[in-house]
Parts: sequence; structure tokens; C-alpha cells
Amino acid sequence: MRKKVIAGNWKMNKTLEDSLKLATEVVTIANDEVNNNVQIVMCVPFTSLYAVSNIVKGTKVALGAQNCYSKPSGAYTGEISAEMLKSVGVQYVILGHSERREYFGESNALLADKVNIVLATGMTPIFCCGETLAQREKGIHIDFINAQLTDSLFHLAPADFQKIIIAYEPIWAIGTGVTATTAQAQEMHEKIRNHIASKYGTEVAETIVIQYGGSMKPDNAKELLSCKDVDGGLIGGASLKARDFIDVIKGA
Ligand code: PGA
Repeated sequence: MRKKVIAGNWKMNKTLEDSLKLATEVVTIANDEVNNNVQIVMCVPFTSLYAVSNIVKGTKVALGAQNCYSKPSGAYTGEISAEMLKSVGVQYVILGHSERREYFGESNALLADKVNIVLATGMTPIFCCGETLAQREKGIHIDFINAQLTDSLFHLAPADFQKIIIAYEPIWAIGTGVTATTAQAQEMHEKIRNHIASKYGTEVAETIVIQYGGSMKPDNAKELLSCKDVDGGLIGGASLKARDFIDVIKGA
């Protein structure tokens, strides 16, 4: 039985002061209203990680980052290493978000290195994949996503692969208010699981948490999360308000 994992992705939002307020609200409401069957993660900006880590410590909420660099340390001005993240209490790291791929040119090969370093540091990568609308319309979306998984993850030994969370995020649904239908989400999640099974076998594939991301919000979360192969969500916009985020979580 896979545990549902709901992760908030604050993206480039919230100053330190705003972060403390939102994190405190989420922790307080989660404590009252959320059962232990759901793992909650908040992926906050680098500048808020340390302060938020003190708020979430010992609560139902785990701390996540939104990126890290592919090298362990050294002369990489402006970058943040996996070890630095770990040292401030980070447990999860989003890797390969479509915004990183599009605006910062992150390739499947670079992401393979990032996955390795996050795993080696003992944190959980939340590895994002997903197609554009044009790719879907051309009917090449499944091949495209399979290649993202193969090129960035399939070098891993089964024991390491099982530590990964995958987030399927159709790019046309991110921040657009357009959500994949439950049929579209279930279809893609099943295809992703089948692709994993083709490499690692069904037993491993059945253990992998596959989140859906892309305009998941309180009024559609329950339906999406009821799909057999949808094991959680990666939540952008709706994670910026404590009430909305908790209501999404309660959909699980
Ligand atoms: P959204 O973002 O929920 O605002 O669509 C999801 C994401 O980009 O992870």
C-alpha cells in the first residue's frame, strides 16, 4: 500500500516573514485536521528553509527544497549543494521541474547527476516529468516522458530507484487552471508505472509514489487522488494559502 504524499511547491514566492506565517498556519491546521495516512511536504524557497525547518520539526510536515546543484561543493558561485540542504533539515528535493527545464536549460543528463547527489546525501528526490500541449497533440507525449525517466533515472540500482518520488506534471496544466481529467491522469500514471515495471519489474513499480501536478486544488483534489495510480500531488498555486493546501491534502 503506497502512502499518499502531498507536496507544496511555493516556487519563487514568500519572503522570510511571509514564509514563517504560512508555515505556522499549515502546521497548526495539519495538526488538527490531517490524519497520519498522508505525508505532507513543503518545498519552500532557499532563503526560508532554515527558519521553516524549526517550525516543522516534530510535526506532520516535512521540509523540501525546489532544486539543488549537481556537484558536491566548490567554485559554483550562486549554487546550493545537496549537503547544504541536508544540513538545514531538508528531506525532499524537487528535481527537473518543467520551469527549471524550460528557463534554466536543465537536461535529462544534468538531472541524472542531481538525482545521484540527492540520493547520496540521503534525501528524497521528487523527480518531475511531463509533456507540452504540442507534444500531446502530436501523440508523442508518452515516448517523451519515458525518455525523461529512462535518461535521468534508469541508471539507478533498484534499491535506489525505490527511494524516488515521481511527479507527473503535464506542462499545459501547470499554473493554467486547466487540470488533466481523471482519465488523462490515470492513463499517464499507469503508463509511467508500466515503463518503470519494464525496467525494474512489477513489484518495484508498485511501490513507487507517482504524484500528479498541474492546477490541483481543493475542488478537484479528491477526484484526482481517487485514481488508482495517483499517489499524491505536487501543488503550486494552491499551496500558497494554508486553508487551500490543507483542503487539497484532505482530498487524499
Ligand atoms: P500549479 O503548479 O499547482 O500552480 O499548477 C504545480 C507545479 O508547478 O508544481
